[in-house]
Amino acid sequence: MNFKGKKIALCVTGSISAYKSVHLASEWTQKGASVHVLLTESAKKFVGKATFEGITHNKVIDSLWDNNLSSNIDHLDISKTADIITIVPATANIISKIARGVCDDIISTTVIATSKPILMAPAMDGNMYDHFAVKANLDILKQNGVILMEPEEGYLASGSFGKGRLHDLSHISNEVNRILGIKNELKDKNILVSAGGTKEPIDSVRYIGNRSSGKMGHLIAEESLMRGANVTLISSSNLITASKIKKISVETAEQMAYEIKTRIKDTDCIIMAAAVSDFAPEFMVDKKIKKQPRKGLEINLKQTPDILKSIRKNDCIKVGFAAETDNHLDNGMDKLKSKNLDMIVINDVSNKQIGFESDFNQVKMVTKDGSISSTNIEPKRVIAGRILDKLSKIIK
Ligand code: CTP
Repeated sequence: MNFKGKKIALCVTGSISAYKSVHLASEWTQKGASVHVLLTESAKKFVGKATFEGITHNKVIDSLWDNNLSSNIDHLDISKTADIITIVPATANIISKIARGVCDDIISTTVIATSKPILMAPAMDGNMYDHFAVKANLDILKQNGVILMEPEEGYLASGSFGKGRLHDLSHISNEVNRILGIKNELKDKNILVSAGGTKEPIDSVRYIGNRSSGKMGHLIAEESLMRGANVTLISSSNLITASKIKKISVETAEQMAYEIKTRIKDTDCIIMAAAVSDFAPEFMVDKKIKKQPRKGLEINLKQTPDILKSIRKNDCIKVGFAAETDNHLDNGMDKLKSKNLDMIVINDVSNKQIGFESDFNQVKMVTKDGSISSTNIEPKRVIAGRILDKLSKIIK
């Protein structure tokens, strides 16, 4: 547990689920953290200051003007001294203010003044969460490294069912615990991550592709950034990326190979999470192939370059992924050897609960000295953290 001796800002805004944050304040305090609660005026309509003060033994901060902390500027004090700023629950209103830089209450002002990790758990009615402005604002927050714990589907206070319920509290606590444990162990390391499935064109409208979403690779890039690395992400996915990550968009295996090759000499470690197509059409027809007069269509395929294998052992630390449907460990170990890797991350892509399109994964990590470790089924961000924890021991 990483709570002991840590300072946590718990920002509560005016959603009906505000009462749930009382449990978090209590749990984190019991685990040894100093919890400082910030309340908006709307939040106070749902939960009282006395509840939080009784639980945390710290004064609630609810005004920009009524300062209590020694510096006499509470929002700057909290923004600088907290180890993490959590916003649970976050309303559409606070999301839009933080995304757009509006500072007219104690929480928006504190969050905008901080450079500490920010975790946000939105909660609102389903239609509000689906609104185009809320979606656009959440994208801005993701681009700027805010960790979002997405709302869950289920019964909503309005009586309807939809996506808007506050994320499970135990998952929020686990994530806060994990973030509090992150150290700067990749500081100044240049990490190159590849992500997503490549698309190999058949004609001007069709391609051969695979089901990789790119989520795993993108989260590895984000977690590397949190550990202090300079991160370059070569990706075929259009997922939103933190703007501090240098993202290069590619489509084909050949483009991915080129972008990696030109950067490899400045790289300390490459993590190849991309699902690179092994085959591509021999040539691309530069207009749409018509159905008539054909009955069928034959496409000749050529093998694409094995990017990871072609990187020399001395160039950098090499981490590969093995997407397997059977004989996982044996096939993974073979790839570790044949591609001369320092570590391989093996996952079972035949299991629908985890893998390509899922938000969850379960992996085995094998290093070249033969050590094997396994994870449980966990959110992909947690898996990304576990991969980097293992990698940090190899890199230093
Ligand atoms: N890889 C690569 N270049 C390729 C194919 C794969 O760099 N042309 C990398 C992947 O990014 C991954 C690792 O090699 O890190 C293993 O990829 P995987 O698809 O599991 O295995 P393959 O080597 O393609 O072998 P096979 O498809 O026969 O299992």
